[in-house]
Amino acid sequence: SAAEKDGHDWFMRKEIFEQPRAVADSLLGRHARNGLLQLDEMRLSDQELRDIDKIIIIACGTSFYAGMVAKYAIEHWTRVPVEVELASEFRYRDPILDYSTLVVAISQSGETADTLQAIRHARLQRSKVLAICNTNGSTIPRESDAVIYTHAGPEIGVASTKGFLTQLVACYLLALYLAQVKGTRYGDEISEIMHQLEAVPDQIASVLSRSDEVYELARSHVGTRSVLFLGRHAGYPVALEGALKLKELAYIHAEGFAAGELKHGPIALVEEGLPVLCVVPPRGRDQLHEKMISGIQEVRARGARTICLAEEGDTSIEPYADHLIRLPKVPVLLQPLVAVVPLQLFACELATAMGHDVDQPRNLAKSVTVE
Ligand code: G6P
Repeated sequence: SAAEKDGHDWFMRKEIFEQPRAVADSLLGRHARNGLLQLDEMRLSDQELRDIDKIIIIACGTSFYAGMVAKYAIEHWTRVPVEVELASEFRYRDPILDYSTLVVAISQSGETADTLQAIRHARLQRSKVLAICNTNGSTIPRESDAVIYTHAGPEIGVASTKGFLTQLVACYLLALYLAQVKGTRYGDEISEIMHQLEAVPDQIASVLSRSDEVYELARSHVGTRSVLFLGRHAGYPVALEGALKLKELAYIHAEGFAAGELKHGPIALVEEGLPVLCVVPPRGRDQLHEKMISGIQEVRARGARTICLAEEGDTSIEPYADHLIRLPKVPVLLQPLVAVVPLQLFACELATAMGHDVDQPRNLAKSVTVE
């Protein structure tokens, strides 16, 4: 009923709008008064964490993209090498694991068979397993050595939204906690990043307050057959997630690419009028932003219609954007938390405008309990 959906037409839309709360809840109680991070449910000792020299993240679907973002954050803040692997591939390639490897399994439901089989395999090889999960008492956290629960609340829509955002939060917390324990980052810096994270719920709310703009854009894409998504750095997994949402909900062919990889193949797909959604990194000291702009110029010169997600105040993008969606200012590593939201709104609205059931897309299941 509409009441269960808080007045929204779909659970998915309700869940998109619950994201400021879900992110805030997932941050709650982690940042102690003394500025230190605390992860009470962690169950792995500081010594065990210090001994870890490699991390392998395993997950499926949207959770896999959260893992890709986690790699950028963990390696940057802790200098521990991270691999990210699809759970369904992991076990079958005879992965190299031992007691100093931490396997992180990310699963909203905690019941995904591919992920469960992967962690069973990892534990047989004596690796420690940490679950990032939204479902209390589900199988994956029960079979893990440690857990960080996300606090998204129940997610009903098959396509993950608030589940994804809270997974990102858990990944940042894990990365910062490891940095704190290993001493690769210090209190002040960790506190500053925590303050930036604590500002994100309001920033997501501001993105949501401009949803009508995204909806109108989405409706103008009914009839579109193919859409590309481009991103770099932490924006690359966001591009992949944006494309996945469009496939899952609107049944439109969509692909995400690392913008730098365009010239090595995908640019051949660009033709007159092709919509290309571009996640523009914040302006910074590195060359990421400039490189992204030149990628956008390349596709536009070949006829693409560019829809750019770029931070507030970034005027350099204006000449190259056929349509501009503004994002709040956040550091590049945290940008996925705000950048993915317009892409969720876009897919949800385009799919509903096409008459599709966004809560239960065809052929998909909320949790896939067969390998
Ligand atoms: C299914 C769902 C996806 C989800 C994936 C992983 O395929 O349709 O939305 O991302 O499973 O689910 P999990 O519960 O393990 O995060």
